[in-house]
Amino acid sequence: MTWQLNSSKRNGAALVGLALAVCGIALARLLRRRLRFSALPPMCPLSMRETLREMTARGTPPGWLYRTRHELGTSVFRLRIPALEHFVVVCDAETARTILLDTKAEKPQNFYKPMAQVTGGIGTIFTKKTHGEGWEHARKGSAHAFTSVRISNNMAAAAPHLADLDAVMAEHARGQAPMPVSETMVRLTVDIIGSTGFGGYPMNALLDSDEASASDGRQFMLDLETALLEFTSKQAVNPLRRFTHVWHPEVIEAKAAALRLMHFAQRILDVYRASGRCEHDADSLIAHLCNNQMYPSDSERCADVLTYLVAGHDTTGYTLSWILCELARNPEIQDKLAGEVEEKGTESPYLQLIIKEGLRLHPVGALGSIRTCATDVATRDGGVIPAGSSCLMPFYVIFREGWIENPTSFVPERWKVGAPQAKDLERLIFPFSLGRRDCIGQRMAMAQLRTVLAHISPRYKLSIAREPVSDYFLTLKPANAFLHVSLREKRPKRA
Ligand code: HEM
Repeated sequence: MTWQLNSSKRNGAALVGLALAVCGIALARLLRRRLRFSALPPMCPLSMRETLREMTARGTPPGWLYRTRHELGTSVFRLRIPALEHFVVVCDAETARTILLDTKAEKPQNFYKPMAQVTGGIGTIFTKKTHGEGWEHARKGSAHAFTSVRISNNMAAAAPHLADLDAVMAEHARGQAPMPVSETMVRLTVDIIGSTGFGGYPMNALLDSDEASASDGRQFMLDLETALLEFTSKQAVNPLRRFTHVWHPEVIEAKAAALRLMHFAQRILDVYRASGRCEHDADSLIAHLCNNQMYPSDSERCADVLTYLVAGHDTTGYTLSWILCELARNPEIQDKLAGEVEEKGTESPYLQLIIKEGLRLHPVGALGSIRTCATDVATRDGGVIPAGSSCLMPFYVIFREGWIENPTSFVPERWKVGAPQAKDLERLIFPFSLGRRDCIGQRMAMAQLRTVLAHISPRYKLSIAREPVSDYFLTLKPANAFLHVSLREKRPKRA
């Protein structure tokens, strides 16, 4: 009996102890949670609806985020976004670096999935999870095509397109009709990527004047615009549209455009395979895509062909356009560049400074990268971004932060080795993003920018005919910009 009493007392005490321990742990968790949440970055006062409207309105998101950052007076803040506990906008470059360089950070699928509809619902090197299936083999399989040597071997194939560009620019110079800079540059870069990345596939976008039947390059551009507008813009605002608008002509047309795009990618593969170059062509990107046996089928391969075509043309095209607009606005910079390029060609150091400054002031990937952070991230003002938050790092805002001298002016000299801010700029301005999911094509992009600008600057003088209007739709574009073009007089060569 005594034994029984003692034993039930012991059990009771153990139960109380256990209950106290559980309560203690729960309390500690609650306190930790409260402590973390009290240090959360401030919330933008706009409602969910208003926030969505601003973030999806054509043309305005980068400028709206810039204004919001300055109105709130903080470089890290939260937005109300449906179905997300924490959506944090990080405009501080150091904090963004920490998040991007964390190997455990992930691409949040709810933001990237709509893009996969453009590739028939198939995930791509751009949209897939870093820690899921398929991304790593796709990245490793293509990486060899982006070495400096291979890119410089491939750039020779751009020469005919530079001759086409001369035909277009000379015509503008003769007729004195101003040149629509964005259209011209984006068509040029479609042609260049076809030649340098895809085994010389003839896109014929720049010189196509046949309105009745578009060239492959022009048709690709039209289909892309149609598909992206529906899947990444309209359905992003109203996800139900996918189900409620099945018979809507815009949705039907977008699906047809996406199908044509995938067929186009297959045609590019077929034409290349038929050329018999797959096995010996170590330089070209398409050879690496063809020979990567880790793709489960050609559909996955085509989805990546399309991704490279998309990621590899309007980014470089609009960057060129922004830089040409800046040169047109700044005749002294333009003349200095023309002189140096005449002597040093694509290796001109001043050209390099101009490109870096163009990418800083007008980052075409203006909304930057978005990542789910794997661990809590401390902000520089003592706050905490909790693990699991979706963090948007808008390059347009980050690259115009107040620590940069005259942040909204185009000043290539700030990048010169030895300039007071040059070292910080090299570390904290990252237009190609950072970390495992940075831009695989950045060397190719830089080679294209150097080649095209070094071709234009000693030959043509530019001035503004109509100022650009910033337009954001997946990339930041200088819309409606027109430039006057005139031929430069040949300067006598130095003895
Ligand atoms: C000025 C030109 C370019 C800029 C500013 C640029 C910028 C970027 C940025 C910021 C990212 C990261 C996106 C993210 O975090 O979600 C990215 C990714 C990517 N870029 Fe570029 N890009 C350029 C040109 C190119 C070119 C020429 C190619 C290839 C032909 C290319 C192919 C890609 C691909 C495939 C990815 C996804 C990589 C991955 O997730 O593993 N880009 N680019």
